[in-house]
Amino acid sequence: MKRILISLFISIPFLACSQEKETLKEKFEDYFLIGATINQEDYQIIDKDEKILKIVSEDFNSVTPENSMKWMHSHPEYSKFTFSNAQKITDFAKENDMYLLGHTLVWHNQVPEYVSEINDKAKFHLHLKNHIFQMVTRFKGKVDMWDVVNEALNDDGSLRETVFLEMMGDDYIEKVFQYANDTDPNVELAYNDYNLYKPKKREGAIRIINSLKEKGIRIDAVGIQAHWDLHFPSIKEIEETIVDLAATGVDVMITELDITVIPNPYELAGIAREEFKKFEGDKKWDPYQSGIPKNIQKKLTRRYKEIFELFVKHHDKISRVTFWGTTDKYTWRNENPIRGRTDYPLLFDREYNKKPALFELLNIDFSKIK
Ligand code: XIL
Repeated sequence: MKRILISLFISIPFLACSQEKETLKEKFEDYFLIGATINQEDYQIIDKDEKILKIVSEDFNSVTPENSMKWMHSHPEYSKFTFSNAQKITDFAKENDMYLLGHTLVWHNQVPEYVSEINDKAKFHLHLKNHIFQMVTRFKGKVDMWDVVNEALNDDGSLRETVFLEMMGDDYIEKVFQYANDTDPNVELAYNDYNLYKPKKREGAIRIINSLKEKGIRIDAVGIQAHWDLHFPSIKEIEETIVDLAATGVDVMITELDITVIPNPYELAGIAREEFKKFEGDKKWDPYQSGIPKNIQKKLTRRYKEIFELFVKHHDKISRVTFWGTTDKYTWRNENPIRGRTDYPLLFDREYNKKPALFELLNIDFSKIK
């Protein structure tokens, strides 16, 4: 009934401004959860920013800690865990009745130095097992889903050479999913990665999912990170990704959506991140320092509309769509992979205002989606 009333309401063009009262989470409530992140890292202590918390609680019904549950923040020393920042987000999620992500247990990035210094394989294995046990136990009943393993694949679908692969062998993914399940059989378990629109990499993810299933090890969902841009991946590639992954039988989630509008140096294949330093301050790589041009804003709006229409079309396969960040002011894209740039990838601008793309999403006519 509520949905019918809302539809009637938004179909009256002259009342368009009253749509501002509608929120993203209400708009998509019959389709999937809508998430955002809360950050905690040095230059972005936004848990102290009331305005951000207001946006997150009003428009979103799921939240991911952008950094604070990662190994370097939650387990910075061999025998020391620090949970206070993650706990703040956990409390916020509970107060606002939000679906909470645990991000992430096993990832090669943002791992403290000491981890790679554990030379003994048995000791390493035990330490990783204990990390998973401590994290999952600490947030039992609070975290709804863990990104158990993040970014384990190369673009060609092979396993990335990480300290986990080196120290624990080819079946480390199976082991860590098993440990997470053993610690909390009720929390949902996911594999999360980027570039899954690339067929080889997608095959790799499907291999991981199927091999866990064949061995009777639980996996509930797969996350498509979705750090995309105005042109790629194409809608067709995104659709194939969703359909192929869903065919494995697990839930598909869009876990880290943002659409960069400035040149993306990842296209410069083979360049190491260190070398991006030389692009810092170069206007070619940071063209919109004083504002997003109108035509780019339009492209961004259209791109978000097309992407969300596709998500709605496949809503039977998609359980959640999470944006990586909240406002353009704090997006990680401003700092990665080139520091100090001005990007516009999200739905709220630097002054915390809703952008045209957000209104466009509120305007989507579900009856026209087939
Ligand atoms: C990023 C955060 O947004 C940044 O604040 C941090 O400095 C680096 O990590 N894939 C992931 C996320 O799974 O955890 C990353 O988050 C972005 C890429």
